[in-house]
Amino acid sequence: PIPVIIDCDTGVDDALALLFAVRHPGLDLRAITCVAGNTDVDGVVRNTLTVLEQAGAPGIPVARGAERPLIEAPRSARHVHGHDGMGDLGLPAPTRRPVDVDAVTLLRREILASPRPVTLIPTAPLTNIALLLRTHPEVTRNIERIVFMGGAVTTGNATPVAEFNVWHDPEAAAVLLTAGVPITMYGLDVFKRVVVPGSDVARLRTSAEPGVRLGGELLAHRDPAVSGDPTPSGGLGDAGAVCAVADPEGLTTERLPVEVSLAPGPTRGQTVVDRRPRPGESEIHAGTREQPLVDVALDVDEGRYVKLWLSAVEG
Ligand code: BDR
Ligand code: CA
Repeated sequence: PIPVIIDCDTGVDDALALLFAVRHPGLDLRAITCVAGNTDVDGVVRNTLTVLEQAGAPGIPVARGAERPLIEAPRSARHVHGHDGMGDLGLPAPTRRPVDVDAVTLLRREILASPRPVTLIPTAPLTNIALLLRTHPEVTRNIERIVFMGGAVTTGNATPVAEFNVWHDPEAAAVLLTAGVPITMYGLDVFKRVVVPGSDVARLRTSAEPGVRLGGELLAHRDPAVSGDPTPSGGLGDAGAVCAVADPEGLTTERLPVEVSLAPGPTRGQTVVDRRPRPGESEIHAGTREQPLVDVALDVDEGRYVKLWLSAVEG
């Protein structure tokens, strides 16, 4: 199996990503690190531990990470993910605690200890990842790739042009994009497209198995009428980024220059993707600079990922 670590802000769709990652036989989920985003970091830790217990995978180490972005003030997305950050489903409190080292320490330890290079899957603001890369740059030698959910080629969600995870901590995203490791950007353009049909959601909700039932409840929560979440009901969201690691053939990517806008004002947090035919070589040289190349997801086989997620979670 592929060794992976998920850095998340659980989060309705982060929970869907965790459920898939613990159940897919091709993935070896070695650790989970938590960061402030959808809710405060203690809420994220609690939600993550609860999901693991419901999923029957309580042994995976979970660490608490950054309480706030590098520079921005703390802010949350409770309006999307409910008061508890995970749909207010009335789930039990976890019985376990996080490990007693912080997220950056756990990330470093697990990455360097892995016999095979690790794929990192951030599905949250990139604060922990930026701190890791700046504090322990040696980890890059045992990172296979970073597949992150964030950014957008076309339209944003937090602002007209910026996606939530990048907008929440733009400086951290900029650190990631310039880290010199292979990166896949699973942005909003594909994120919104992978949707589980209502009939499948209904089946999951009546399952006798707690992990499957939780998956159904979380998917049902993503009904715009119920949650105010603009993602259509049944949307796999962040889980799609984990599907892209388990089954990269389902994703169409193009290697393109990407830069995060850090300027204050209406473009802050935008991922500016250069899709000109010969990026950086246009006759009009205005503003052209060397940008890191990122494998940007432009298309997804949504039916394939829905099937993949269902078959892993339902077993
Ligand atoms: C991202 O923001 C969060 O609300 C979701 O969990 C996802 O990671 C989408 O913009
Ligand atoms: Ca998330």
